[in-house]
Amino acid sequence: MAVHPHRHPLPIPPLVHGLPPGQLVRRRAPDQPNDSGTSVHSHTRQIHIRTHQTQTYGSQPEEARPVTTQKPTATRPTDTGPLPVRGPGPVPVTLTVNGAEHRVAIEPRVSLLSVLRDSLLLTGAKRGCDQGTCGACTVHVDGRRVLSCLTLAIGCEGRRVTTVEGLADGDELHPMQKEFIACDAFQCGYCTPGQIMSAIALLDEGHASDDDEIREWMSGNLCRCATYPHITAAIRAVRDTASDPS
Ligand code: FES
Ligand code: FES
Repeated sequence: MAVHPHRHPLPIPPLVHGLPPGQLVRRRAPDQPNDSGTSVHSHTRQIHIRTHQTQTYGSQPEEARPVTTQKPTATRPTDTGPLPVRGPGPVPVTLTVNGAEHRVAIEPRVSLLSVLRDSLLLTGAKRGCDQGTCGACTVHVDGRRVLSCLTLAIGCEGRRVTTVEGLADGDELHPMQKEFIACDAFQCGYCTPGQIMSAIALLDEGHASDDDEIREWMSGNLCRCATYPHITAAIRAVRDTASDPS
C-alpha cells in the first residue's frame, strides 16, 4: 500500500546526519521564479532544515535561530498602477508544457505541481513534501529548475514548462535518463524525476566541475533510498561524454 508522504514525512536525510539536534543547516533549493516574473538565483534562496524534526521552532536555542538582517522590500513596482485582479475563483490559464499548449481553468492560488499532476495528468513530477524541502517536484521553467510545489501555475503563462515526460525524443531517452539507468541511480524511483531535472539544469548551469560541486548543487534534491553516489556518477558520466564525445 502506498504511504502518504504527509502522514509519514521523509526521514531526516543523510545530509544532516551526524549534526547535533536543533542545529540548522542551510540547503540550496532549485531556482524559483519570483512574482515579478524573473528568477531568483539559487545562491540567494536557501531553506533552513533542522536536524531535530519534532522540536518546535520556539524551542530552538537562541544561537540556532536564523537571523534576518534585511529590511522588507517592495516586490512590485508602485508606478505602474494596480495589477489586474484575477480570481479568486477559477480563471482561464494557458500553459505550454513539453511543447504543447494546455488551457485550464484554475484558481490563481493553485501550484504548478497540482496543475501538472491533477489537471494535465503528467505525474512525473512527484509530490513529496509539498513545501519546498525535498526537490521531488523539480521541473524546468524556461530552462531553469524550479520547485513546482512552490510555483504558482498562473505565473507560468507565456513560459516554457518542461517535465521529465518531455525529455525523451520519441523512444530515445535523454542522455541523463540513460546514465541514471546505466549507473543504477535509483531504487524506489520516487525522487528520480526531480533528480534528473535538477541534474540536467546543473550541467547547463556549469556546476559540475567535480564531485563536491555536484553534491553541493544537487543538495536540494533528497533521496530517501540514499542513491547519492550513483546519482553523482550518472551526472559525471553525462558531463564527461559531453566534453569528450569520442
Ligand atoms: S514536493 Fe518537495 S520540494 Fe516540492
Ligand atoms: S527516494 Fe527512492 S530512489 Fe530516491
